[in-house]
Amino acid sequence: MRTASLGLVALILAVNVLSVRAWIHPGILHKLSDMDRMSSYISAGLAGTSSPQYQDYLLFAADKFSSDVYQMSTPVATLTSRASFEADATAAYQNALPSSSSTVSQMWKLTGIQLHATKAIEIMDAWSGTLKSVDPNYLDMQLASSLGPSIMTNAAEIIRYTSAGWTASGISRFSSMLNNVFYPRLNNHTGVQYEANVGTGNTKALMAFGVFTENTTMYNEAISLYSNERCSGLALDISPTGQSSESGRDQGHAQLGLGNLAESCQIAWIQGTNDLFALLSNRLLMGYEYTAKYNLGNTVSYDATFQRCDANLLGGPFTVISPTGRGVFRPIYELAYAHYVSIKGLSMPFSLQIINRVGTEEGNTSPADGSGWGTLKFRL
Ligand SMILES: *[C@@H]1O[C@H](CO)[C@@H](O)[C@H](O)[C@H]1NC(C)=O
Ligand SMILES: *[C@@H]1O[C@H](CO)[C@@H](O)[C@H](O)[C@H]1NC(C)=O
Repeated sequence: MRTASLGLVALILAVNVLSVRAWIHPGILHKLSDMDRMSSYISAGLAGTSSPQYQDYLLFAADKFSSDVYQMSTPVATLTSRASFEADATAAYQNALPSSSSTVSQMWKLTGIQLHATKAIEIMDAWSGTLKSVDPNYLDMQLASSLGPSIMTNAAEIIRYTSAGWTASGISRFSSMLNNVFYPRLNNHTGVQYEANVGTGNTKALMAFGVFTENTTMYNEAISLYSNERCSGLALDISPTGQSSESGRDQGHAQLGLGNLAESCQIAWIQGTNDLFALLSNRLLMGYEYTAKYNLGNTVSYDATFQRCDANLLGGPFTVISPTGRGVFRPIYELAYAHYVSIKGLSMPFSLQIINRVGTEEGNTSPADGSGWGTLKFRL
């Protein structure tokens, strides 16, 4: 009798342990040890030992979005366009990053780490205090609810968990913005919503929101959308040969989608819940290599039956692979390469050629399209 009830107690404890997973914070694209690694490259660089990571840091530090005197836009109650929020989100993120470590470089100490944190907080508080909605009639309502918000949530995560001085009410208002302004727009899988690169962007945003708000339901929903979404699940985005469902549209959108997928994989990897990188026999690696190979000027096979949903609305179905944007390398390669090659020991020869040609990965032209600066942030 006594043994039996003890057994029951043990069982209940075990169930609780399984259902209450420990969240890793900061833990969206970067955990603390990642930021310490960046800091050590920066410190070594300042002490005279340069590295590609340090060279990339110099460009990052000089970028206008990293400035602690960045002039933010005037927030609006209803978003009907993307540019101003996305620029501000990028500035919040790039100001949050250097404020993240107490061992960060002398240069940041001289310029004042707190000034950067304060700038990031100013941007996040201003938007979360004003923004009420994303116009549901705005054609790009999902992109507006995913790309900028995902970058800004990375800023929020870093600032929140590094004692940068963000108030509890600021944190709570930011969480409400994710739940009440952006989530409702992303939670739409009808008509032309949630397709191809838009869908993969939505999924990475939901995963980031789930981590920041510690919402297991939202996080798990995003994990399952990564594989199974009706118009952006992995197998619909990348064919077994590595072709993207947007290879026939243009190379910019094909690369945007790859970067979105890689960021989702990184979040789940950092949280330690799922190895999304490995899904479908490293399908994402195949995707990177196919697109890298074509963009380097090589010939690739093309299957005209593999198309994104509603390709007809964008001038498709596309009978041949698109040369539009060919050779314009987006800053997406370092993240995937660091994982598949440096961590897993796999091979990505075409992505490596791009990485070597680029040297130091910078930010995106449309700044919130991805996190960028991968040489500093992801190269191990
Ligand atoms: C989903 O998006 C469509 C437009 O494609 C829109 O008509 C509909 O109202 C949206 N649904 C919700 C619940 O927001
Ligand atoms: C968690 O996310 C789900 C959507 O996945 C949402 O319905 C729910 O309200 C969220 N919970 C909290 C406490 O915000």
